[in-house]
Amino acid sequence: MCGIIGIASNKSVSTNIINSLKKLEYRGYDSAGLATLNKNEINEKKCSGRVEQLEKILFKSPTEGNLGIGHVRWATHGIPNEVNAHPHSSEIVSVVHNGIIENSTELKNQLEKKGKKFKSQTDTEVITLLLTEELKTKNPLQAVQDTLAKLEGSFALGIIFKNFNNIIIGARRGSPLAVGYSNNENYLGSDSYALKSMTNKISYLDDGDICLLTKDKVEFYDLKKNKINKKVLILSEDKNIAQKGDYKNFMSKEIFEQPITTKNCINEYIDKERDEINFFNFPLDPKDINKIVLIGCGTAYHSCLVAKYWFENFTSLPVETDVASEFRYRNLRFNKKNLYIFVSQSGETADTSAALDLCKKNGAKTCSIVNVVESTIARNSDWTLPIHAGPEIGVASTKAFIGQMLLLYILALKISFLRNDLEKKDYQLKIKNLKKLPDLLTKCLKSEDKIQLVAKDFLEAKGSMFLGRGLSFPIALEGALKLKELSYLHAEGYPAGEMKHGPLALIENGLPVIIVCPNDKYFHKTVSNMQEVIARGGKILLITDSNDSVINENIRFTINLPKIDESLTPFLSTIPLQLLAYHVALLKKCDIDKPRNLAKSVTVE
Ligand code: M6R
Repeated sequence: MCGIIGIASNKSVSTNIINSLKKLEYRGYDSAGLATLNKNEINEKKCSGRVEQLEKILFKSPTEGNLGIGHVRWATHGIPNEVNAHPHSSEIVSVVHNGIIENSTELKNQLEKKGKKFKSQTDTEVITLLLTEELKTKNPLQAVQDTLAKLEGSFALGIIFKNFNNIIIGARRGSPLAVGYSNNENYLGSDSYALKSMTNKISYLDDGDICLLTKDKVEFYDLKKNKINKKVLILSEDKNIAQKGDYKNFMSKEIFEQPITTKNCINEYIDKERDEINFFNFPLDPKDINKIVLIGCGTAYHSCLVAKYWFENFTSLPVETDVASEFRYRNLRFNKKNLYIFVSQSGETADTSAALDLCKKNGAKTCSIVNVVESTIARNSDWTLPIHAGPEIGVASTKAFIGQMLLLYILALKISFLRNDLEKKDYQLKIKNLKKLPDLLTKCLKSEDKIQLVAKDFLEAKGSMFLGRGLSFPIALEGALKLKELSYLHAEGYPAGEMKHGPLALIENGLPVIIVCPNDKYFHKTVSNMQEVIARGGKILLITDSNDSVINENIRFTINLPKIDESLTPFLSTIPLQLLAYHVALLKKCDIDKPRNLAKSVTVE
């Protein structure tokens, strides 16, 4: 959460800071700010709201300077307003910060006892005031090192100093931070995405590292204050990196490109000629695996829940799933023969990353399924499987969800085959069917016209309910999450069979209830649950690939899906649910790509 940019150059930096902040808005967008150093003065400009607002302020009153830092904020301490926006500056130092300082209250009390005055409600200002004290007697690097020693929590920092016209210092503990290199210009960024338009040469800071940048050079220091060298990585080029094209917003683009991203991923891992999966370098011989443990957050966690059914159906392995924020604090018994699989679009989610670190500390074998190949989670795991979905900009995860499920499906198939749990002919048939997926997704996208009509029902509704069984249960959860985050409407995802144990009490006349009901082994059971809802006045949207006549009565809308292998139905039923959330949000005039209170990359706990 929050985005940091820093630029040391031989020319004015404010325009490039603004451009980078626009790219970083997916990390936080409730306030923005920058500080430059010009003629040995710190010039700070900040505002609540979007970078666009900051740009207008700069247009009226430009900020010069060849060195500067910028920030987009996702509020943790203090409401999103101008005072709490970053940077936080004193006369001699200016700081931008991602993460949380856990002992800020204690440090604030100590500083206040010494007569220091705070302007904001943030934890960050503690760093500014501590540094201001340290800088009275120390050089910037020593002052930063000694300040960091007093801080608890996780953070990434960008700092500029009066009297040190040419340096930016960056520091990382927990929250990711990258450095980029160019001619007469060097950069600091909370991720490579912000730097990509300026350079493809990047180094990542490790936990405890500090970097010191000038326009001509970058120095790195580790936790023990030793000067160290860093590997320079050359980033892959992403074509059309952040272009919406003719789409209204990134989310609609991302929904509609799912047939292509699915095809890319299939081509990457599945042999075109033979029905075979090309996976190498397993960290653990599949025959030796004792248990599969799947971990993620939000939508990524839902892909883990779907995969649990696949691993259980295709392999003889026991499977566990957990949300990362729970997993990391559980009293776990690690086993070297378990395979721990971490799923994350960004690869930077703090909880998922901490859960991965915990596994590594306990000598467990880890695999990550990520979209961002240069991410922390990808770099820290024993084995990385990229989903090849291309940059996902909309905060609501869509194509990454399909990509995560796809890789988990492919992985479950390969592991089951290598363990002799699945016969060759069944394995090959599943692969053949999988190759049909992109075309079938295209057909599902045609449901958009009908979904636009369905969406109107949600405008007056108090809430809604999403129900499914088996593989469709996590899809119901995902459908409800999408609706909540995009349109701010209450939505419950539930296993259809659990309704009578409580939630049935919520059903009343006109409540929209979405039933995800493919023609699988649960079909008749889910239809019965649907009848119970109809009997109590629920307004049904049925998503199914069945033509069974039993389902034609008292249903407000039916979305017909194409037929597919039962195990692949989650991919198809996801599409109308994404479109539904999208169109309800559009009717409600919500900000589709940047829903309130959320951020794309959740790098705080
Ligand atoms: O980057 P990650 O996949 O690790 O992110 C996990 C969740 O924060 C994310 O899926 C979130 O739930 C989405 N906004 C849902 O659309």
